[in-house]
Amino acid sequence: MQRERNLAPDWILREALSVQHQANSTWKAPGQEQEHNSSMASNSASNGSGGLTLTILGCGTMGIAILGGIMDSLATQHPQDHVSIPTKSVSGTSTPAEPTPERLPTVFNACVRRHESAKRIKAELGRYPAFESLTIYENDNLGPVQEADVILLACKPHMVADIFSSNDMKEACAGKLLISICAGVTTDQVQANLGSSRDSCTVVRTMPNTAAAVRESMTVIATSNPPLSPQTSHLITWIFTRIGRVVHLPPSTMDASTALCGSGPAFVALFLESLVAGGVAMGLPREEAYTMAAQTMRGTTGLVLQGEHPAILKDKVSTPGGCTIGGLLVLEEGSVRGTVAKAVREATVVASQLGQGRSGVNGTRFN
Ligand SMILES: NC(=O)c1ccc[n+]([C@@H]2O[C@H](COP(=O)([O-])OP(=O)(O)OC[C@H]3O[C@@H](n4cnc5c(N)ncnc54)[C@H](OP(=O)(O)O)[C@@H]3O)[C@@H](O)[C@H]2O)c1
Repeated sequence: MQRERNLAPDWILREALSVQHQANSTWKAPGQEQEHNSSMASNSASNGSGGLTLTILGCGTMGIAILGGIMDSLATQHPQDHVSIPTKSVSGTSTPAEPTPERLPTVFNACVRRHESAKRIKAELGRYPAFESLTIYENDNLGPVQEADVILLACKPHMVADIFSSNDMKEACAGKLLISICAGVTTDQVQANLGSSRDSCTVVRTMPNTAAAVRESMTVIATSNPPLSPQTSHLITWIFTRIGRVVHLPPSTMDASTALCGSGPAFVALFLESLVAGGVAMGLPREEAYTMAAQTMRGTTGLVLQGEHPAILKDKVSTPGGCTIGGLLVLEEGSVRGTVAKAVREATVVASQLGQGRSGVNGTRFN
């Protein structure tokens, strides 16, 4: 039966509210719902401590951030905890608790090329007790990969082929879990470098972001087919919840995820700058305006991550005839929503083309 449509304002209001309430009740804040639907897969030999050996292949900015999150967490985690409490983020937004994997990484290898890179690792991670269990290797990847139960591939994307070029390196990956954070590199592309180990090495693609440095990463973990074991899935989720939040999505969404979460911090920074520019134009001191804009964004995202629907949040602060609705309409007249959405769509297309090895892909799609 078709519902009669009445264009009276109160009907429109009721309909709008009911749509919003429906959206609010079905919408889950990122991280509120975690799926662990994968099956069992075992890791290879453990180190003497009963824990796992984690080798970071390319331990630069991201590798250090991830290792820092793990080491910080190990320093605060009670061995008998059944639920791991992630490291408190700088912003104080809590990350949902996850089951602790049966075996955690307790021995670490970090691989780099230059001595300066090794010194940086020491400078940034030396304060954690688990630094005692870290060995830093310069220009020597084979031994640490042979020792590893879990390999975190964190070199630049174009270096992947070179790193696995020798047969010994390919063989060293057999039977292991290899987690890649390389932007734009598919699991097929990683596996293509593994030779005869490609079938026995479990390759999982993930996409963290730059906020890992302050434990506020949004990491997308690509789901696997066949699914991962719960143990492996818990371990990967545990690693990335040390540095922020995690969602699991199919590999087909990785380009859009790269655009939203990888490029997202730059888009958000532009909006933050715009808020500051407006405030400064109206006489606010610049330094305070940056703090005010950043804290306002953090507070807003904190509310959304706790389950508040953004549309309802927006309506709640828009008093009829007030300043907020006045400002919002200026943003709508400037097509901010469409423009930002178009930026994410454009970044997705560019990410997909970069993933196919194309260069010079920015430029001529729009007149
Ligand atoms: N940065 C981000 O915000 C971000 C976000 C998501 C994903 N990612 C992905 O994360 C990966 C790492 O990014 P990053 O920003 O951390 O890069 P980075 O700081 O340049 O780190 C790369 C590391 O790899 C090392 N390396 C290079 N060649 C190597 C080799 N042959 N053997 C061993 N180590 C080698 C480098 O050491 P040397 O300096 O000594 O050569 C460096 O420590 C990239 O694939 C990127 O796409 C980055």
